[in-house]
Amino acid sequence: MTYPPTDLHTARLLLRKFELYDVDDVFNYANDPEWARFLTAPTPYTRADAQSFVEGNSKSEWESNTMFAIEFEGKVIGAIGFRFDAPNELAMLGYSIARPHWNKGLMTEAVLAVNDWAFEQFGLAKIYSFADVENVGSWRVMEKVGMTREGTLRSHGVLRGVRQDFHYYGILRSEWAGNLGCEPQGMAER
Ligand SMILES: CC(C)(COP(=O)(O)OP(=O)(O)OC[C@H]1O[C@@H](n2cnc3c(N)ncnc32)[C@H](O)[C@@H]1OP(=O)(O)O)[C@@H](O)C(=O)NCCC(=O)NCCS
Repeated sequence: MTYPPTDLHTARLLLRKFELYDVDDVFNYANDPEWARFLTAPTPYTRADAQSFVEGNSKSEWESNTMFAIEFEGKVIGAIGFRFDAPNELAMLGYSIARPHWNKGLMTEAVLAVNDWAFEQFGLAKIYSFADVENVGSWRVMEKVGMTREGTLRSHGVLRGVRQDFHYYGILRSEWAGNLGCEPQGMAER
């Protein structure tokens, strides 16, 4: 599968590939233990961590590492991306946004855009994701975009040294509201 880096525009956001000059913006929001609470990101988060994250995402091949920077009012305030499983026509979604911008509907807006893009482009059968059961904001986003809670996996990972339960959510191609006659095309063929 090959495809070029893509920009997606929503009402308030520009979603685009990371650039090397984004390091300071990423450091500004990621240097916050509350932002990192449900993530595997290092804490404390150093400028070197931001540099490594931005370099990894800006220099890598877009199709092997599909991670959009979330730009709002000229600054990068978060990231959203997919890990594709082409043989199974699946994509796993992941995201984060800076704390000053929580609860403004911005991640819901971003997820709707990237899910539409991924379903349209790749003939996916399903997009899925998961969130710590205590990360209400994250699983509310998944519910607001039409994903269904498929189950709760108990003690399914470790966050900050503590075993955690995770809600898993998914949306099938047939449930995707943006699917207006778009013909499925197997990812493996692309
Ligand atoms: C999770 C996260 C991405 C949500 O982004 P966001 O832009 O705030 O999301 P939205 O504003 O689109 O939606 C959040 C929803 O959760 C609700 N919410 C948030 N915290 C809540 C809480 N403690 N209890 C109940 N509802 C809560 C909000 O009210 C909103 O729902 P509403 O629109 O029905 O009112 C953001 O908090 C974040 O980046 N957190 C840190 C990183 C992270 O946890 N990433 C996800 C890992 S799985």
